[in-house]
Amino acid sequence: MTTTITVCETCKCAGWNAETANKTDGETLADLVQKIVANSSDITFRRHACLMGCDFACNVAIQASGKLNYVLGNFSPNIESAKGIVDYAKLHAASDKGQVPFREWPQSIKGHFRARLPTLDNS
Ligand code: FES
Repeated sequence: MTTTITVCETCKCAGWNAETANKTDGETLADLVQKIVANSSDITFRRHACLMGCDFACNVAIQASGKLNYVLGNFSPNIESAKGIVDYAKLHAASDKGQVPFREWPQSIKGHFRARLPTLDNS
């Protein structure tokens, strides 16, 4: 089953400067994640403006139909964050209900979970 990664493309971390930056921190993170997931059959990628967690930038959501869904934040827009997000999403995609054992979590996503949302499905 496919898991979708949504990256907030308008997130700006503390210290972001409109006069010196040519893109938002969310755009930078989204670009990195998108490169990693290219050609992945188990991951869908999309960008979205403001996930309403602006104080915890950068924010992402991990979602799949019939599974637990997650919001994660406080990511720096770097390759380590992007790899951890994608590696976790692949584990989520491979899981039955969206629960990935803690021992399998990539190190770079630990401490970044902000919300877990139950499935809307009745199954
Ligand atoms: S700008 Fe990213 S959550 Fe609001």
